[in-house]
Amino acid sequence: MLVKLEKVSKKFSHNGSGIEVLKEIDLEISEGEFVCLVGPTGCGKSTLINLIAGLEMPTSGRVLVGGVSVTGPGTDRVVVFQEAALFPWLNVRANVEFGLKMSGMPAEDRRKKSTEYLKMVHLTRFADFYPHQLSGGMKQRVAIARALAMNPKILLMDEPFAALDAQTRRLLHEELLEIWQQTRKTIFFVTHNVREATVLADKVLTISARPGRIKGGTTIRLPRPRRESDPHLIVIQQRILLSLQEEIAKVVKDEDLDYLVEKTSPVASGSGGLGNAL
Ligand SMILES: Nc1ncnc2c1ncn2[C@@H]1O[C@H](COP(=O)(O)OP(=O)(O)O)[C@@H](O)[C@H]1O
Ligand SMILES: [Mg+2]
Repeated sequence: MLVKLEKVSKKFSHNGSGIEVLKEIDLEISEGEFVCLVGPTGCGKSTLINLIAGLEMPTSGRVLVGGVSVTGPGTDRVVVFQEAALFPWLNVRANVEFGLKMSGMPAEDRRKKSTEYLKMVHLTRFADFYPHQLSGGMKQRVAIARALAMNPKILLMDEPFAALDAQTRRLLHEELLEIWQQTRKTIFFVTHNVREATVLADKVLTISARPGRIKGGTTIRLPRPRRESDPHLIVIQQRILLSLQEEIAKVVKDEDLDYLVEKTSPVASGSGGLGNAL
């Protein structure tokens, strides 16, 4: 097991009182697996990512990566955030090489790596561009190339495509799956979008709200690439949505349920609109 969380709880103190964000989370991610965690906003998804990344420490319980307790950040775990967080003063290639430079890799080797990963995310022609010259989707691809260049054991992705339009997001889903198949990296991907999770994952975990606990897991064996509107996938999406429904009701009004599924596009409208299905 590459990642193992044992009864991990996390409390934050707020004006003297403690807020329990995560409660006794047990979680296992195998090497090479693509696991998605879905849950409504505010349920502790980012906190969970930060715990695995070593950016936060659990209040109780243990986070193990490769059998070793996580005590801080490490190059074996790299996070891709919703906002690409690129260095605006560095061009695309220098952004991808940044971590490698910090780790002392010689310039020639760095160049080889950045060339390899820029090719993987289809940005070879944009190596000399600066972040402000890129679209949102391109920025996320640079962030993914930068993460992969570090050769992590696990890629932690915190709603990386949430700010992108539906079409760009679908393109990046395809690219990410290609990258995953090429590199066989382990991916832990959190999202509030059920459709996104079912298109990508081997296993979709759902997390409850306040305090966050893992509610259930759904293994998806459908071959990839998957179509969001595939009837088999829609059955799975509805099941996941139902399991989340009571959690969502705790935090948002019913009419807000739609935010858990991407707004129905003309192509997918034949699916009946999952938000309406509830
Ligand atoms: N550093 C912090 N200090 C206090 N509260 C926090 C901190 N980080 C997150 N929280 C609280 O924990 C809860 C879960 O946050 P988060 O993990 O960001 O949820 P999600 O990513 O699912 O939207 C929220 O109520 C948030 O306000
Ligand atoms: Mg978050």
